[in-house]
Amino acid sequence: MASRDEKQANEEDKLIVSLPKERGWVSPYLYLFQGFWCPSTHIQGVFNFQKNFDAKDSDVIIASFPKSGTTWLKALTFAIVNHKRFPLENHPLLTSNPHQLVPFVELIFRGDIHELISHLSTMNKPRLFGTHIPFPSLPMSIKESNCKIVYIYRNPFDTFISSWSFFNNIRPKSLPTLTIEEAFEMYCKGIIGFGPSWDHMLGYWKESLATPNKILFLKYEDLREDTNFHVKRIAEFLGCPFTEEEESSGMVENIINLCSFEKMKNLEVNKFGIVGGSIEKKYLFRKAEIGDWVNYFSPSMVEKLSKIIENKLSGSGLSF
Ligand code: A3P
Repeated sequence: MASRDEKQANEEDKLIVSLPKERGWVSPYLYLFQGFWCPSTHIQGVFNFQKNFDAKDSDVIIASFPKSGTTWLKALTFAIVNHKRFPLENHPLLTSNPHQLVPFVELIFRGDIHELISHLSTMNKPRLFGTHIPFPSLPMSIKESNCKIVYIYRNPFDTFISSWSFFNNIRPKSLPTLTIEEAFEMYCKGIIGFGPSWDHMLGYWKESLATPNKILFLKYEDLREDTNFHVKRIAEFLGCPFTEEEESSGMVENIINLCSFEKMKNLEVNKFGIVGGSIEKKYLFRKAEIGDWVNYFSPSMVEKLSKIIENKLSGSGLSF
C-alpha cells in the first residue's frame, strides 16, 4: 500500500500533468498553478508550504517577484532584526550568502519535510523566510497570524532585463538559448516564474493598502535613493527600531555598507559556490543599476511593455 507521502506525490504528479504549460525560462516548462506560472520543481514546495507552515507572530517574510532586489532586502532585513545580536565586524553576512540566512520557503519545503518541520520549531526568533509565492497562495497561517511581510518591487523594465540576463547565465546547457525577443514575448504574456509580474505586485500592493501594519511595500528604486530612511522604516515596522545611541554610533550606515552591492558582490562567500541547489552565487550580483533597460529595449518594446503596464496597473494607485 502506498504511504501518505507516496500518495501525495502521485496526486501532485497527476495534478502537474493536468495543468496548462508553456516553455520555461530555465526549466523545460512552466505550469499555470493557482493562477501563476510555476516551475514544476517548485510546485511540491509550494504545496508543502501551504499545507504545513505554521506561522508565528514573530515571523518575518521577505516577499518579492524574482529579480526585484530580493537578495539585498534579505541582507538588510537580516542585519536589521539582528542588529543587537551580531557585531558588524564578525557578522554572518560576511561568511554566508543572504539566501542561506533567509531561505526561500518554496525551496526548503521540497522533498521530505519531517526534519525541516522540527528544525523550524527550534529556530531563533524572529524567523526570517523569503518567498516569491504570490499573496493569494500564501498559507492561511501567514494571513491569519500577526507575522509581518516586507515586499520589494522594481520597475518591470529593469526586472525583465535582470531576469533575462540571470536566466541566460543559469540555464542548463541542455536547454536552447532564449533570445531577448523570445523572452520579451513570454514576459509580456505574463509567462515567467511566479508571473505575471503585474499580478504579483498588485496582489501584495492591494493587501498592503488593506493591512499596512502587516505588509510593508517597498520600491527598489526608493530603497536605492534613500537607503538610510528605509532601513529605519523597516526596523520600526518590524518592531526593532534603532535607539538614538545606535543611530549616533553610525549603526544604520554600517548596516547599509555591509549590505551594499559593492561590498556583497566582492565578498569571497558571494563570488564562489552555489546556493539554492544549483545557482552560482556570483550571478546574483550583476550591475544593480537603475534604468539599465535602456541599453536593451527597442522603441517597439518600450511601447508594448509601457502599454501593458499602464493597462494592468490602471486605477490601482501603483506606479513606477
Ligand atoms: P541587476 O540584474 O539589474 O544587476 P534578486 O535579488 O531579486 O534576484 O534581484 C537581483 C537584482 O538585484 C540584480 O539587478 C542585482 O544586481 C541586484 N542586487 C543584488 N544585490 C544587491 C545589493 N546588495 N544592492 C542593490 N542591488 C543588488
